[in-house]
Amino acid sequence: SRVVKLAVIPGDGIGPEVITEAEKVLDAATSGGDVRFERTRFSLGAARFLETGETLTDTDLDAIRSHDAILLGAVGGVPGDPRLKDANIERGLLLKLRFELDHYVNLRPSKLYPGVPGPLAAPGDIDFVVVREGTEGPYVGNGGSIRTGTPHEVANETSVNTAFGVERVVRYAFELAERRSKKLTLVHKTNVLVHAGGIWKRLVDEVALEHPDVAVDYLHVDAATIFLVTNPGRFDVIVTDNLFGDILTDLAGAVTGGIGLAASGNINPDGAFPSMFEPVHGSAPDIAGQQKADPTAAILSVSLLLDHLGLHDEAQRVTAAVEDDIANRGTAPRTTTEIGDAIAARVSA
Ligand code: NAD
Ligand code: IPM
Ligand code: MN
Repeated sequence: SRVVKLAVIPGDGIGPEVITEAEKVLDAATSGGDVRFERTRFSLGAARFLETGETLTDTDLDAIRSHDAILLGAVGGVPGDPRLKDANIERGLLLKLRFELDHYVNLRPSKLYPGVPGPLAAPGDIDFVVVREGTEGPYVGNGGSIRTGTPHEVANETSVNTAFGVERVVRYAFELAERRSKKLTLVHKTNVLVHAGGIWKRLVDEVALEHPDVAVDYLHVDAATIFLVTNPGRFDVIVTDNLFGDILTDLAGAVTGGIGLAASGNINPDGAFPSMFEPVHGSAPDIAGQQKADPTAAILSVSLLLDHLGLHDEAQRVTAAVEDDIANRGTAPRTTTEIGDAIAARVSA
């Protein structure tokens, strides 16, 4: 029987709460099958840093690298906590994993499931995927500050866009569009960011020649936020840079019923490194430890994980169980555990 080595990083805040439910559903979907998930838990995040001063050691990274895939809850402390100023959990842990493991595709599907009370009066059919570049853009840390803290401070954060990095994620997006509704929208800000926007536009135009049946569209990012609210049904595959993709996918989560439902995969399509699956949301310190978090985003991330591993039937069973749960959710509040139990029960039924 096949063994999948899974690294589990529950993280901080609501991370451990939602991961408990995600693992419960993973167990339900795979129990009795031929695939055994051999799990290693990694204690990483703000809590570990505050205890030990460590963020992500080389030993941690090497150990994680030896797994087949990663399931992550959320990491990070209370925004603005002065004790975490230098730790930089976001850069030193989350982005370090994405960069070191070459997660160049940050896959963020957005679907409005029947029965979800979203904020839009007439949402229409919403079913699109944001292919967010994961290793470049303004995220790389190519910046610095001089005369820091003085009235003459100069602070720069340069967006890095390489032809290699942009082309590979654009190719992935076109291939995904071929398997979906054959519609691809590039989102950028070419009217202002002429250099970064220019390379994205050029490479999309070039790769488009190899996909004559994919309809290609372009939107400036500000206009894209309008259409995500007024006509989200127009989108199928959106390809965009790291920062625009971050912002658009929180908005996409909100229009499809809330951030508690939004799943993501940080994919290394070449398979040289383990891919990492996590909810789009963060550690939500405002509701942590209260059983108020919706674990659905983490559970749908398990579905993406199963799909990535080629376990398509299992992935489909998880998604179907979530759809059923959402359709029958009602308005009575449920705890994190109750939602996880309900979805796991549907998977096993
Ligand atoms: P957040 O996503 O943690 O929270 C934003 C709002 O959404 C909060 O009101 C929160 O209660 C709510 N929310 C989030 N997930 C929810 C869920 N599953 N169910 C119900 N409500 C939910 O964003 P933030 O407050 O900006 O960040 C908190 C910390 O998390 C920061 O340290 C940030 O850097 C970190 N963060 C980590 C990740 C990650 O690990 N992938 C992602 C985003 C933010
Ligand atoms: C996300 C988060 C991260 C990002 C942060 C915590 C580094 O917001 O996964 O969307 O900006 O990518
Ligand atoms: Mn984000």
